[in-house]
Amino acid sequence: MNSAVIDFINTNRDRYLEELTQYIAIPSVSALPEHAGDMRRCAEWTAEQLKTIGLQNVRVIETPGHPVVYGDWLNAPGAPTVLFYGHYDVQPVDPLDQWISPPFEATVRDNELFARGATDDKGQLFIHVKALEAHLSQTGTLPINARVIFEGEEEIGSPNLDQFIREHKDELSCDVVVISDSAMFDKGVPSICYGLRGLSYFQIDLRGTSTDLHSGSFGGAVANPAFVLAQVLSQMKDRGGHVKIPGFYDDVRELTEPEREEFKRLPFNQKQYRKGLGAPKLHGETGYSTLERTWARPTFEVNGVLGGFTGEGAKTVIPATAMAKVSMRLVPNQDPDKIAALFEEYVKKVTPKSVELKVTRMHGGKPWMTEIDNAFVKAAVRAIEQGFNRSPVYTREGGSIPVVATFQSELNAPTVLFGVGLPDENAHAPNEKLDLDNFYNGIIASAYLYNEIGAIRK
Ligand code: BES
Ligand code: MN
Ligand code: MN
Repeated sequence: MNSAVIDFINTNRDRYLEELTQYIAIPSVSALPEHAGDMRRCAEWTAEQLKTIGLQNVRVIETPGHPVVYGDWLNAPGAPTVLFYGHYDVQPVDPLDQWISPPFEATVRDNELFARGATDDKGQLFIHVKALEAHLSQTGTLPINARVIFEGEEEIGSPNLDQFIREHKDELSCDVVVISDSAMFDKGVPSICYGLRGLSYFQIDLRGTSTDLHSGSFGGAVANPAFVLAQVLSQMKDRGGHVKIPGFYDDVRELTEPEREEFKRLPFNQKQYRKGLGAPKLHGETGYSTLERTWARPTFEVNGVLGGFTGEGAKTVIPATAMAKVSMRLVPNQDPDKIAALFEEYVKKVTPKSVELKVTRMHGGKPWMTEIDNAFVKAAVRAIEQGFNRSPVYTREGGSIPVVATFQSELNAPTVLFGVGLPDENAHAPNEKLDLDNFYNGIIASAYLYNEIGAIRK
């Protein structure tokens, strides 16, 4: 590796932070229509960055939703082509009053950068932008061919991305996909993540009557949709945390004994984990450890419920409607469409005829798992060793990046998850943050990664 590249990274830390702060200042909340203009501005800003660092063919490409930003550099004949994927959109910031500093004003406290998007995913995608910049500016070249796509709809389920990938197959052709949008096992414990869970998300609406009713005059005569909702939801799991939807576990790939042994070897402190979450007691599927439950077992979760009177004081009312958002995290080899159908059938079965039921399918995504002995994963291991001075451990993750399965099926390309976040960085929550050591080491590791991948001949 050309030492000028690493020197350049080490002397440009302050500028990286200033640029990331500007990037974060654009409130690119994909879920909220009032931010549509910010989404465009953020795409333009991303594209300007890609041009500035020396990528070619940089474009903001329209989709039916928020635009995709593309750029490439394809002047390394014989070297592998790496497709870098990331997302410039972020989650909404509510509850705003729980933020210690304003979400779009990046603020450093104790060597951590606090802001929405700091770890998910602006800070993480930025490590590749800066590592590419370091190579191009110091050597005029890259050891790999690079393609970059940063999308603006990941946090809303990437509704237009599969179609986009199918329509741009040639432009996206690559040997490997590299994504930094996940967490390391712990601070000082870098990791290679070889599995992600999938997702199937629903809204359930119940209606009991045409309008709210006086609970004295009508209580006893009609079903109460808020109560029926609680009954319906309680049918989804038993007390041991097993999902009761018939057929739900049919396609689950069971953990292997060696894998369970590997998980046990990881430096996981159950008590610290519980305390860090502020939970009185951990709870999950019986027969499985916490890491097994979150990484390798499917779940059913209630994401939100709405119904009836929730204001101050008391109001005697029977609400006309009740609503819940629910989702299931899936593991290999569960299929989101098949699970969705099983769920719909089951909800219909357990909902009494005394209420009207509407079930709406929202987004979904396939689970994913990769072989850890491929050449690209080995290259990533060496890059992490050089950037973080420590060998990575192998982990799976409970979160979902649905496009990873699409890259495999449409582009026939494996993915390396090169995540430099941490599990306690409050992604999707107030006071999201990014550890700055990991940010800078991530840029260095990423710079090494290109040399390691570049050395693989096709
Ligand atoms: N970066 C996360 C995914 C993630 C989280 C990977 C934790 C590994 C560990 C991503 O931005 C995300 O939030 N994905 C959504 C996907 C959904 C909207 C389809 C998720 O997991 O809920
Ligand atoms: Mn993300
Ligand atoms: Mn996210």
